[in-house]
Amino acid sequence: MTTELIDPQAVGATTGKYHDESRQGEAYVPATAGSNRPGKKFYIESYGCQMNFADSEIVASILQQEGFGATANHNEADLVLLNTCSIREKAEQTVRKRLTEFRKTKEKKPDMLVGILGCMAERLKEKLLQEEKLVDLVVGPDAYRTLPSLIEEAETGQKAVNVLLSREETYADISPIRLNSNGITAFVSIMRGCNNMCSFCVVPFTRGRERSRDAASIVAECTELYERGFREVTLLGQNVDSYHGPAAPNPEAMAAAVNFAQLLAMVANISPQLRVRFSTSHPKDITDEVLHTMARYHNICKYIHLPVQSGSSRVLQLMNRTYSREWYLAKVDRIRAIMPECGISSDVITGFCTETEADHQDTLSLMAYCKYDMSYMYFYSERPGTLAARRFADDVPEVVKKRRLSEIVALQNQLSLQSNQQDLGKRFEVLIEGDSKRSADDWMGRTSHSKVVVFGKGNHNHQPGNYVWVRVHDCTQATLLATIEE
Ligand code: SAM
Ligand code: SF4
Ligand code: F3S
Repeated sequence: MTTELIDPQAVGATTGKYHDESRQGEAYVPATAGSNRPGKKFYIESYGCQMNFADSEIVASILQQEGFGATANHNEADLVLLNTCSIREKAEQTVRKRLTEFRKTKEKKPDMLVGILGCMAERLKEKLLQEEKLVDLVVGPDAYRTLPSLIEEAETGQKAVNVLLSREETYADISPIRLNSNGITAFVSIMRGCNNMCSFCVVPFTRGRERSRDAASIVAECTELYERGFREVTLLGQNVDSYHGPAAPNPEAMAAAVNFAQLLAMVANISPQLRVRFSTSHPKDITDEVLHTMARYHNICKYIHLPVQSGSSRVLQLMNRTYSREWYLAKVDRIRAIMPECGISSDVITGFCTETEADHQDTLSLMAYCKYDMSYMYFYSERPGTLAARRFADDVPEVVKKRRLSEIVALQNQLSLQSNQQDLGKRFEVLIEGDSKRSADDWMGRTSHSKVVVFGKGNHNHQPGNYVWVRVHDCTQATLLATIEE
């Protein structure tokens, strides 16, 4: 597994690999027949978490209904959209830089519309129109249904803004258009927003209140994916374990609310050939019922992303994470007691307000105890309006934050290598996702515990989407190297 400084929820959709504040040019999406916008094209770039990438697929669907086709070349687009992230300052800087690049295109093509979607749109609202003179549309994450009318407004030269957050919107009835898909793995949003108030985090402000999508529409989307040949779905939410959705879209069905463990079982029952993953779990909400459900189903992957953020109980309290170091460690023990083979990964922030050298050592010792397979690691970036920004001074010097970050990265690199070495000589079932990046003679796939495996194709007639048994003979810190076993 990788231990880069990358965003857990930023995904390059072609590979399923995560990138920090990454972006994607999109696959071709044909306009609908009888389009009222013949020949009009949109171009979309996505930044930030998997949920943002999943939202771009909803936006693509809404725009296709409106008659837009997609292009991967922004120079030929009539509408350029940036689906943005605010999680760290750097994420916003990346988007600002990109906007100045689009300014040049717009100078040559004044009719081209530029829109900002997602979390930066929500956080900065009209300010974006004032600051960035080239932005024509500002649309928050709950307002994508209004894109067609906002585009019409913008076409008449008005500045179009809708950043209303909703308590109900889940886009449950919109069938996402899979962008840059490998045809095997897909993300499925099961909820939106977040009711937690981690003091460092901007998400509750940019995404609004937590709400769960109805279970029937989730199962229908996953079934359709399976029927189209997809073999793995990742159920997405900021806090999936607090999923609590109605069984069906009608309000009476609320009586039969479905919890996350039940939803997992419903999706796993679609087919034993469909793997189920999920992200992200807040340690306070993952229940024994979820763990036992994972253990019961072979096709629910034995892998949990369980962000700790800090190993110091004092810092965890300031972060408002609502658990202590001891409580978290007990949760890790519980996971290992129920599923000894389960992979566990984490998110860690260094240099949070008041963090001392002793707190930092606590983080290192916790990581060593948990033996994470992988972690996403960041230094603290103060976000305006958050509880931490209002209450605490951002008092750890950047040089210290970065030094601590390099120490946790170095430790994680060791842990990842050790974890892979433990797998030497073992047999694993792997879902083939496609060619390995280095050679078309090798396949790349993943184990249930989410490790990347590369192995020679040999004379076997396997295809992406097939499950194969392999035996590991070598490894790097990031990859298991294996051979097919029949
Ligand atoms: N909902 C998930 C959870 O509770 O773990 C993750 C949400 S966030 C999109 C992904 C990660 O970004 C967090 O787990 C945290 O490590 C990191 N993060 C959030 N706010 C941050 C900040 N202000 N500075 C640095 N890292 C931050
Ligand atoms: Fe942010 Fe905490 Fe919600 Fe995760 S659980 S999105 S870190 S507020
Ligand atoms: Fe995701 Fe970034 Fe928003 S991580 S929820 S796109 S702030």
